[in-house]
Amino acid sequence: MCGIVGYIGSEDTKEILLKGLEKLEYRGYDSAGIAVRNEEGVHIFKEKGRIADLRAIVDEDVKSNAGIGHTRWATHGVPSRYNAHPHQNVTNRYTIVHNGVIENDEQLKREYLLDIPLQSDTDTEVIVQLVGLFSKDGLTTEEAFRKTLTLLKGSYALALLDNEDESTIYVAKNKSPLLVGLGEDFNVVASDAMAMLQITDQFVELMDKEMVLVTKNGVTIKNPEGVTVERAPYTAELDAGDIEKGTYPHYMLKEVDEQPFVIRKIAQAYQNDQGELQVDADIVNAVNEADRLYIVACGTSYHAGLVGKQYLEQMANIPVEVHVASEFVYNMPLLSKKPLFIFISQSGETADSRAVLVKIKELGYKALTITNVPGSTLSREADFTLLLHAGPEIAVASTKAYTAQIAVLSILADAAAKSAGIDTGFDLVHELGIVANTMEVLCDGKEEFEQIARDYLSTTRNCFFIGRSVDYYVGLEGALKLKEISYIQAEGFAGGELKHGTIALIEDGTPVIALATQESVNLNIRGNVKEVAARGANTCVISMKGLEQEGDRFVLPAVHELLAPLVAVVPLQLIAYYAALHRDCDVDKPRNLAKSVTVE
Ligand code: G6P
Repeated sequence: MCGIVGYIGSEDTKEILLKGLEKLEYRGYDSAGIAVRNEEGVHIFKEKGRIADLRAIVDEDVKSNAGIGHTRWATHGVPSRYNAHPHQNVTNRYTIVHNGVIENDEQLKREYLLDIPLQSDTDTEVIVQLVGLFSKDGLTTEEAFRKTLTLLKGSYALALLDNEDESTIYVAKNKSPLLVGLGEDFNVVASDAMAMLQITDQFVELMDKEMVLVTKNGVTIKNPEGVTVERAPYTAELDAGDIEKGTYPHYMLKEVDEQPFVIRKIAQAYQNDQGELQVDADIVNAVNEADRLYIVACGTSYHAGLVGKQYLEQMANIPVEVHVASEFVYNMPLLSKKPLFIFISQSGETADSRAVLVKIKELGYKALTITNVPGSTLSREADFTLLLHAGPEIAVASTKAYTAQIAVLSILADAAAKSAGIDTGFDLVHELGIVANTMEVLCDGKEEFEQIARDYLSTTRNCFFIGRSVDYYVGLEGALKLKEISYIQAEGFAGGELKHGTIALIEDGTPVIALATQESVNLNIRGNVKEVAARGANTCVISMKGLEQEGDRFVLPAVHELLAPLVAVVPLQLIAYYAALHRDCDVDKPRNLAKSVTVE
């Protein structure tokens, strides 16, 4: 999704901005631009496509010590050079970059901007034109910017340059993430700490509706009333090395391979000195005091939530509902008397999930966020947080965050069960250790999954994933991975449901990937495989040791049945990876998708 960078200091700005934007590339975008300011004024370079395309048109000779940059993921108007940010007001005095969506842009145009010829289709341009308009009425830039902010409805992270004031970048945010980074003789602005990690690890969080004046030697945060607010910086606990690809051809492959390490790290992070799993007592109490848990998430995190429901219900005996955030927010089900909300989000910034969090907080309910990013919006605004400890996930297709979410949910279920006096009958630390070792074996044997991708997916235009019980949930995730990065139309189905309609799509050679890791439904899923095979499907059964049958394409080493999703997903991630590779797709940055979706 859109990214923002800004720099003011003594170094030449272009390269810092371009490097920062490159670090944000993983979030997904379709155009990019920078504006740099020097004594001649503001120079703008923008281009549709990749940062490399932007780099190619930036004039090397333009030197400057202050600038702003942006990667755009189109919401208003097609991806194009003229819709790319930065945008300027009609007199070119002000230059702005914006993340988010202004919901009342049309109304503001009608009310204030009828006489101004707009140069783009974006909602963003409205903001910069308003600042220009109000400054003409004699307001200072700060006053004009503040007046504009009071009129905006929607979400924004903004960085604004004033041609007539070389010393300041004006910054504001509401609902969209934005940070200010601190350095010696320079300060920066970034929508994600990763963008500026190369030059600073000291960041200041901004709160909604605040405005910030960023100069070379100072940062002044002001609340909506214009009163200065003091806030200490924090150290971003990210290692710049964590976000490098190293020798891997793609981040996705690196992140798949990191999964055994992540599972071990999680088991360690949640162990006490006696080696027992432990979750903050306040969180466990909140879970056990609830009469129903509502898991809210999007995409891959939603799929992890489905597996989590199984854990919390089976291990801790607590009823759970799992909801897609974008639906929940506008179509809330009848809630139980004492609900607890669990938000699952790799980034902790997903706007759909945040909209639900804001709503349920208004209703006075408690919330726990399970996220990979400490200090993210969903973490800050919830009552409790559990961290994934997965390290930065850069590839758009989520892999290690999914397995980390499932592992953390299993630990939460285990802790809730123990505190309620329920014996789960197994030692989770030990079982997670077996899972990590098994993941390692699978990652070491990638050729097998490359071959499956070749045998089943090289020419197909669609593919089905079937499973029952938790295998169904893993199938949904397998299908999502495949469609996201290879563009093969892929759908996951409950094994028994296929015959109620979708089986009509099975033709000679249609690939059907079936999971068989659950003993209680093994015979049922085998029956479903036969049904599709009888209609010509090219079936690929991935089973678990102990449940295998002749003809299964791959047999996973045995792990505890409840934890099977953690290992069964690995072949599906790798099959998707190789299918995308064989089709020459951009694995890490699939078309139309964004890593962190910060608009509703
Ligand atoms: C985007 C990403 C998905 C991700 C979803 C939820 O759509 O492309 O990979 O699963 O957002 O993101 P979150 O950060 O909330 O887990």
